[in-house]
Amino acid sequence: MGERAVRFSGKTVVVTGGASGIGAETVRLFAGEGADVVSADIDEDTGRRIAEECEGEVRFVRCDVTDPADIEALMNVAAEASGGIDTVFNNAGAGGARASIAEIEPDEWDRTMDLLLRSVAFGIRYAVPHMKDRKGASIVNTSSVAAVGPGYAPTAYSVAKAGVLHLTKVAATDLAQFGIRVNAVQPGFINTNIFTASLGIGGVMQRMANNAIAQMSANAQPVPRGGQASDIAEAVAYLASEAAGFVTGTSILVDGGITLGPRHSWDPEEPGLFDALDTMANAQQGQEPTAD
Ligand SMILES: NC(=O)c1ccc[n+]([C@@H]2O[C@H](COP(=O)([O-])OP(=O)(O)OC[C@H]3O[C@@H](n4cnc5c(N)ncnc54)[C@H](O)[C@@H]3O)[C@@H](O)[C@H]2O)c1
Repeated sequence: MGERAVRFSGKTVVVTGGASGIGAETVRLFAGEGADVVSADIDEDTGRRIAEECEGEVRFVRCDVTDPADIEALMNVAAEASGGIDTVFNNAGAGGARASIAEIEPDEWDRTMDLLLRSVAFGIRYAVPHMKDRKGASIVNTSSVAAVGPGYAPTAYSVAKAGVLHLTKVAATDLAQFGIRVNAVQPGFINTNIFTASLGIGGVMQRMANNAIAQMSANAQPVPRGGQASDIAEAVAYLASEAAGFVTGTSILVDGGITLGPRHSWDPEEPGLFDALDTMANAQQGQEPTAD
């Protein structure tokens, strides 16, 4: 076995939503590769426990990303130790309002946008003063397959995540002058508590529901397994690393191929429209009178 890569020695990395799922796994990865990690979340107990259990340097800071003042304070605290911030992963989130556009109320809409879109805008805004002088500075935002099109998540969530993609591009242009790269990840169905948490499902039911979701998504995508938080953490680490020094204003879909196309496009057992047409064409050829 070769030595494990250590890509982030001496780097200060901020991860929001660090108490669970994708954020927690990203905290572990960065800390395991030498970074000084600041993990932020509203879930203090779990956030602190995960920070303590991590191999490496992790500080937990309570931060509600729907409150811009909290985000500003987070970035100020994170920058104290090393005089700046090298990487920010704007990731905290939840399912948001479930109502369709025919029924959603203004305050539900605003709460979802504040949690999923404004949080990212101000996660960038308040990190920038601390990132300007850092060589290789990089921001990564969590979007979603829900930004590809409808059908993956509720309306407000989908719109917010599409907004995160556009914000990522605009921020990449605004911040190029400071040498800060900005990119996004678009997770597919990843086995975390996000689905059950937004419905208040806990305990044994939570494990059952998570297993069912992993099974259902595995059946619906070309890569036949449930997505794991580590699948996303690896993409985030790449975007934050020197290896991605030429990459800005873009997004990596990490979705097991679920957005590629309907099942018949990747499953030879599943008949599609053209299979049906081929069958008809063959049947017709069989019936044509032969000219002799
Ligand atoms: N799991 C998936 O399938 C999936 C797919 C696409 C995108 N995402 C996105 O990935 C991100 C992480 O989700 P996850 O799947 O790891 O979910 P998760 O529920 O496991 O973790 C989300 C974390 O965010 C924290 N959080 C929620 N509201 C917060 C707030 N106001 N301030 C600070 N922290 C807050 C929660 O306490 C939790 O620790 C989210 O932005 C989510 O929308 C997830």
